[in-house]
Amino acid sequence: MGRLNYTMRWLSTIALHVLLLWSVTATAAQPPKQAYVSSAHPLASAAGIEILKQGGNATDAAIAVTAALAVVEPYGSGLGGGGFYLLRHAGKKTNYQFLDARERAPLAAHANLYRINGVVSTKLSLDGPLAAAIPGIPAALDELSQKHGRLSLAENLAPAIALARNGFAIDKVYQERASWRLAALQKDPESARIFLDQQQLPKTGWILRQPDLANTLSLLAAQGAKSFYQGPFAEKLVQNIQNAGGIWSLKDLALYQVKWRQPLIVPLAEQRQLITAPPPSAGGIAIAQSLLMLQRLPWQQAKPAQRAHYLAEVFRRAYRDRSLLGDPDFINNPIDALLARQHIVQMADSIQVDQATPSSHLPPGSVLYEGDHTTHFAILDQQGNAVAATLSLNMMFGAAFTVPETGVLLNDEMDDFAADVQGSNAYGLIGSQVNSIQAGKRPLSSMSPSFLEGPHEFAAFGTPGGSRIPSMNVLAMLEFLNGKAPQQWVASPRIHHQYFPDVLGFEPGALTEQQQQRLVKQGHEVKELTRNYGNQQVLWWQKDSGHSAAASDPRGSGASLSH
Ligand code: DON
Repeated sequence: MGRLNYTMRWLSTIALHVLLLWSVTATAAQPPKQAYVSSAHPLASAAGIEILKQGGNATDAAIAVTAALAVVEPYGSGLGGGGFYLLRHAGKKTNYQFLDARERAPLAAHANLYRINGVVSTKLSLDGPLAAAIPGIPAALDELSQKHGRLSLAENLAPAIALARNGFAIDKVYQERASWRLAALQKDPESARIFLDQQQLPKTGWILRQPDLANTLSLLAAQGAKSFYQGPFAEKLVQNIQNAGGIWSLKDLALYQVKWRQPLIVPLAEQRQLITAPPPSAGGIAIAQSLLMLQRLPWQQAKPAQRAHYLAEVFRRAYRDRSLLGDPDFINNPIDALLARQHIVQMADSIQVDQATPSSHLPPGSVLYEGDHTTHFAILDQQGNAVAATLSLNMMFGAAFTVPETGVLLNDEMDDFAADVQGSNAYGLIGSQVNSIQAGKRPLSSMSPSFLEGPHEFAAFGTPGGSRIPSMNVLAMLEFLNGKAPQQWVASPRIHHQYFPDVLGFEPGALTEQQQQRLVKQGHEVKELTRNYGNQQVLWWQKDSGHSAAASDPRGSGASLSH
């Protein structure tokens, strides 16, 4: 009987998918009147536009923007890091792809890598070469170019090479990020030489030149990813990293591969579907669960404090399930169970209208501390091809270790693993076995580039922000679902809950005194954060008219440019 039920459910899900696909593709879409590039830095957006003008498609522009961001936002992403790319290919039948360029743990990594005398040292997983996993971005640039590029890799990398060689004036954002990471940058001679002005925090307007990075990008342009992962360049990386206490081997680099994975596609109300990041991101599942739960709750009619209550309760439940997820190449992720109607209904119906559910009353799970910078961009070309990508080094300036003579700043993505699965980490958060450190494994991520698409509209979302990425994406999506303009999706005030700590955090001014009091009465612990967060980059395409638009988060200094 159970089996029959299951089969029926399965068949009806397939039928719904077929119907949805039909309805999405059956409407004759008007191509976007304007192409857009939204990224966290105006120079990176300009690089993308330059490539579109040369006849490149959205993928070509994505390659150019990725490489340009590696140069102009060294604190956010780069050749020494990883990321996720979500692609929409226009055509008779729209199709979506997901490229996993997440870093992998070196083969010499093990569960006790960061323990000293039995105690986990978070410093080791955050600063210096031992914190770095094997990067995915160089391989992603090559793979994207080979599979979907119209221009050559060299043409797409040219704007970034020029930016690295000629230099550019740093802005306030750079200065702020460098000041937060100053001590770590000063400790590494190569990082200090490149990213600081004579060991000190540079003034805005200071010209950052990166000739070594320009050479590395030129090598990639001429010879592709193998020039990074094999041969003399790989030897240089491994030698320098081992000399400084890291554990990379030549085999780690030779074995690294990006992976095409099936994006997570979830049908929503009104013939829309969510297209988002599958594991090793936990973000897409949290977004899907949140939207599905919200479909059962009257959030649209609710007053702001009541809406914040619903959102906090929804996020609390979605984030709880994070502890079940990990690298799909190592564990079986219970995705179907987490998105099953029964589970969603049970979670949504356990939300009380006027009372918070303490997280400790829900069965336990875990969240991890996540670092403080990353980047996101979104591109739509005039054929309707689109790319949304979130790229990261984890913390600002990653591990704050630059490999000499390469300009490659390494990530500290190893900290996204549960370094301690039994107890809690330095931030008081609980670990999970499925996300423990293992050789060759990818750490669980929150990065979740996402699309919402229906018969009439296409929208793209994404932001940096560590564990707050999924909640931020949901908030932006709700503005879209509420019929607001893209500027509003990125600008609206943010609230957050992540199960543990059991706190409803909100941006300064996001909730009035009265709204806070109401939430406290309902049993929430509310906390006004000291600063705003996130840097959401969005796209919108109205498919009946061809009207398109984009917006960059006012919290950052990014730019949405059109062509
Ligand atoms: O993959 C992750 O979830 C994190 N490494 C992302 C870090 C991040 O977004 C920091 N941003 N502000």
